[in-house]
Amino acid sequence: MTAPGAGLLLERDTEVATLAAMVAAARDGDGRLVAIEGSAGIGKTRLLTEVRAAAGEAGLHVLAARGGELEREFAFGVVRQLFEPLLAMSSQEERAELLAGAAALAAPLFDQSQLRLGNGASGDASFATLHGLYWLAANIALRRPLLVAVDDLHWADAASLRWLGYLARRLEGLPLLLVLATRPLSEGEESSMVGELLAEPAGVVVRPEPLGTVAVAALIADVLSAEPEEPFVAAAATGSGGNPLFLRALLDAFAREQLAPRRRTSPGCSSSGQRPSHALSPSGSHGWPSPRVLWCARPQFSVMGPSFGLRPLSRAWRYRPH
Ligand SMILES: Nc1ncnc2c1ncn2[C@@H]1O[C@H](COP(=O)(O)OP(=O)(O)OP(=O)(O)O)[C@@H](O)[C@H]1O
Ligand SMILES: [Mg+2]
Repeated sequence: MTAPGAGLLLERDTEVATLAAMVAAARDGDGRLVAIEGSAGIGKTRLLTEVRAAAGEAGLHVLAARGGELEREFAFGVVRQLFEPLLAMSSQEERAELLAGAAALAAPLFDQSQLRLGNGASGDASFATLHGLYWLAANIALRRPLLVAVDDLHWADAASLRWLGYLARRLEGLPLLLVLATRPLSEGEESSMVGELLAEPAGVVVRPEPLGTVAVAALIADVLSAEPEEPFVAAAATGSGGNPLFLRALLDAFAREQLAPRRRTSPGCSSSGQRPSHALSPSGSHGWPSPRVLWCARPQFSVMGPSFGLRPLSRAWRYRPH
């Protein structure tokens, strides 16, 4: 199972097998929860792409959403992302079917006129709303097995988290697979709700590991279209810590640099337009790795946090080809 068009997926056989087994279980009516936990860039979204493709192939209906750093105050923002497209595309008859029975308790949440009056957006995470949403999900799943995939759960709004917890505790016997991807937890009320989801006894937590040297070598060969020398692989593995996002950003910067048409005459970064400081200007040697490349790649490393400065990068990339 590899999602078409999603690029190389290295060293994730175990995770992919776990996810495939969960898709099969949900399809057969055995509701499951899988949490994918890992640091920025380790490959959580990539695994979600895989599980979405596998679910689609197995005939599951897929509802997807992602938390947004700037949308955490928007009550039920994630829940709306999950259900609104389906409800909007449904005929009146189908919509009435989906919102039948106890699911009707959630109907005001999707009623545009209520939203305009400010009622639907109040974040009323009452038992009635949570229960109504549960039945909406159940009604969809009972028509056709369902995957509910939520990315960037660490940024999800509190009301949606409350509902996901409510759903997670009621999956038994439902053809529904709930897959949640999150960065490691920090402080705060939302984090403790995410923590509860990760600790669900019936759930499985998948923690993608940093890539090993074999995978690093494969990725270098793929991105730079050349077989790398062993010391280069070692430097790349150390420098990136096996983090695929970091490694890709670094290799993309290398690839860009090699392709830059006026490499010698223009010391600026080809994409960002930033000029390197005097101390970091090209050395005039092989330029592999050129400090300029590292400098130009820096904006892409901001995701790694403030501790990821230029110095560790330079140290890691000290290797020069002969
Ligand atoms: N196992 C892997 N093999 C090769 N490339 C990978 C692998 N995992 C992820 N990647 C690539 O690394 C990059 C980062 O992956 P991804 O976006 O999934 O990280 P993430 O954990 O979701 O990060 P964030 O926490 O910032 O959302 C993507 O370009 C992805 O295609
Ligand atoms: Mg992601």
